[in-house]
Amino acid sequence: MKRKTVKEILKNSGELTGKRVDVKGWVRTRRGNKNVQFVALNDGSTINNLQIVFDLSKFSEESLKPITTGSSIHVEGELVASQGAGQSVEVLADTLEVYGTSPADYPLQKKGHTMEFLREKAHLRPRTNTFGAVLRIRHALAYAVHKFFNDKGFYYFHTPLITASDCEGAGAQFQVTTLPLQELPLNEDGSIDYSKDFFGKMASLTVSGQLEGELGATALGLIYTFGPTFRAENSNTPRHLSEFWMIEPEMAFYEIQDNMDLAEEFIKYCVNYALEHCYDDIKFLNDHFDHELIDRLKFVVDNDFVRLSYSEGVKILEESGKKFEFPVYWGVDLASEHERYLVEEHFKKPVILTDYPKEIKAFYMKLNDDGKTVRAMDVLFPKIGEIIGGSQREENYEKLTKRIEEMGLEGMDWYVDTRKYGTVPHSGFGLGFERLVQFVTGMQNIRDVIPFPRYPKACEY
Ligand code: 4AD
Ligand code: MG
Repeated sequence: MKRKTVKEILKNSGELTGKRVDVKGWVRTRRGNKNVQFVALNDGSTINNLQIVFDLSKFSEESLKPITTGSSIHVEGELVASQGAGQSVEVLADTLEVYGTSPADYPLQKKGHTMEFLREKAHLRPRTNTFGAVLRIRHALAYAVHKFFNDKGFYYFHTPLITASDCEGAGAQFQVTTLPLQELPLNEDGSIDYSKDFFGKMASLTVSGQLEGELGATALGLIYTFGPTFRAENSNTPRHLSEFWMIEPEMAFYEIQDNMDLAEEFIKYCVNYALEHCYDDIKFLNDHFDHELIDRLKFVVDNDFVRLSYSEGVKILEESGKKFEFPVYWGVDLASEHERYLVEEHFKKPVILTDYPKEIKAFYMKLNDDGKTVRAMDVLFPKIGEIIGGSQREENYEKLTKRIEEMGLEGMDWYVDTRKYGTVPHSGFGLGFERLVQFVTGMQNIRDVIPFPRYPKACEY
């Protein structure tokens, strides 16, 4: 017989009732009495379990012994309307094959493990309800990202993961080298001789695909990247990973207003896609962890984001009378507590903050006429803080080369060539994929929305 997933069986239970089905999965629980045993079977296709009924007139107690929490089995039997509450259909088993037993030391025996415990068992945690739900939602969001941009005529542009440039200029890069660390080749002045390294120069893992993305946008018009991103900042927060995924659209002929419109439409599309396609999983997370989750997601989809300048935002913070851990003044790089005050307490809506002081933003952002601020835009979200960072780019060759010089950046000839030959106004932004997954799942810690999180002192598997 052809195997069906639990999801297929439950979805088509109407037409399958009264028919034989073939199903395979992992045992969540087994309970019952001398006459009948009930097994909750899950195969990962959905949060919902399929109930398997073993009639002990057909199966010996001995033959059911290997069916313990975590074991893997294959069952055939008739799908029937369920007698009990809690499920609409169940399978009356007539064959049983045990693929793998699961001894009593299986770590996921009970419900209600802490997230910290499960993080230490990250090799098994996808088998829990919570992580199953998060990972299915993560998949749906990734698909929504590609669908959104594809449907809008954007091209998926692959930027390199190993690079010789530092896009954000924050110096938080992981170096890539094959040089012998015990015996580094040195120049006469004592510095490291990178000409002997694999690429003949110093190379790193990328912190952003944007600069290369701009090369794509100034040729193909509309592009997006979606790939791994690496940052070696020593940030032990619930919102930072050392390896995360970023989506970076880059659009020729877009000014900052167009950029904000796209960012808002994009996030709403993704959140709405998850609500429409992952409702069972979101409902599970809503009921077990975060009772306001569904309301919060609907609120974001249904309401306009507030748009205001950094200067206006700082004024609101200064006048709030609130005691922040980090002081607020014009010129400060806003901390998460400031961003969340604006979003959660003042406006009670997502906020797009624009026109930041140039000193706290990257070199490539377009300078405003005031000479002090740049055309940056950060999208700030409830619970998360910054979810998107973006800007209109400096398209003026002289201004850009001056800024590159001021900041002492080298080896950028290829980048400024886009401004030398047929420059155009253009804009883009970066969405931290895990921050989006965090928002949609309501998970408290970003380490719990990626299968194998990397953060300082943690690189398991
Ligand atoms: O604001 P960032 O640093 O912007 C850029 O990298 C630009 N080059 C994007 C662009 O304009 N194309 O990062 C963008 C987003 C942040 O808003 C945040 O959501 C996420 O990436 N992010 C992180 N997510 C998880 N862990 C980290 N360490 C992150 N750093 C940034
Ligand atoms: Mg940023």
